[in-house]
Amino acid sequence: MILIVGGAGYIGAHINKILNKNGYETLVFDNLSYGHEEFVKWGAFENGDLGNIEDIRRIFRNYPITAVLHFAAFTYVGESVEDPQKYYRNNVCNTLNLLQVMLEFGIKRIVFSSTCATYGNPVEIPITENHIQNPINPYGRGKLMVENILSDYSEAYNLKYVSLRYFNAAGADPDTEIGEEHNPETHLIPLVLDAASGKRKNINIFGTDYSTEDGTCIRDYIHVTDLADAHLKALKYLENGGSSDYFNLGNGSGFSVKEVIEEAKKITGKEIVAVETERRAGDPPILVGSSEKIRSVLNWEPKYSDLSVIIETAWKWHEKNND
Ligand code: UFG
Repeated sequence: MILIVGGAGYIGAHINKILNKNGYETLVFDNLSYGHEEFVKWGAFENGDLGNIEDIRRIFRNYPITAVLHFAAFTYVGESVEDPQKYYRNNVCNTLNLLQVMLEFGIKRIVFSSTCATYGNPVEIPITENHIQNPINPYGRGKLMVENILSDYSEAYNLKYVSLRYFNAAGADPDTEIGEEHNPETHLIPLVLDAASGKRKNINIFGTDYSTEDGTCIRDYIHVTDLADAHLKALKYLENGGSSDYFNLGNGSGFSVKEVIEEAKKITGKEIVAVETERRAGDPPILVGSSEKIRSVLNWEPKYSDLSVIIETAWKWHEKNND
């Protein structure tokens, strides 16, 4: 049985679906602080908190866990700057609790959600896994700390891990069973779709004076179902005796904020009012990752990489959810 920590969230729920479709039994462990119980449509569910080590022990005592996928983390970069304690306690200390109990029960396989934010401001595009990791906020630093902890645990305790450094996860389950749902929402694509549906008056473009072709920031958007498939492959890799490793998880191509808005206009057929505003603090102009390594080592191939497909699936979910 696979333990999905944080499996009631946007990304964890998509992975739960793909694992079940591929014959795995799963258990979602989530404290529902940001997750949604209605997203746990497959496998078993236990409400519990990584901050409480007894909650974790109870899970490992009661279920035949063979591997762990860990998604439970706070993800608001701005908030991590204002309240770093919240981020280090949850994203780092609570992960130590999880690892401790895994070792107590002799479970030695984990797939960890890391982020391109561990690289900080890129000095080279596309970003490869060898790019210097110099995060510029507590969110990225906490994720890098866990990457380093995993590496030390791998050496010392023979724990096998795969860290996946996500670029911009986006889109929704093509069957619209689950989708993106954050409160508050800060991500570009769901906000653009809110502006299309009239839920919001407009979309703010944060900065039009970046050193990019149209002046707006460029990001590497990866469909959440492709991202889920990478986790399935990472899990199988560990089950087949693969050694500890880390991979970028992006498409390898970038789109600007303006391009995203234009594409959303086409797909939704709606007017979208865009308001040009100041830059948002901490946004690098371009974040595009090389996905060569994951393609060659894990044999991963994205199927939904077109921006149009990403926005289409997000829009289908958005419409269903608004009904
Ligand atoms: N943006 C806008 N207007 C908005 C929201 C976003 O113009 O209302 C812009 C941002 O400035 C950025 C781009 O759209 O240029 C994408 O922004 P998101 O907030 O959707 O995503 P980020 O690239 O900021 O964040 C992602 C992940 C984080 C991760 C970060 C690393 O979601 O978890 O990359 O930098 F930490």
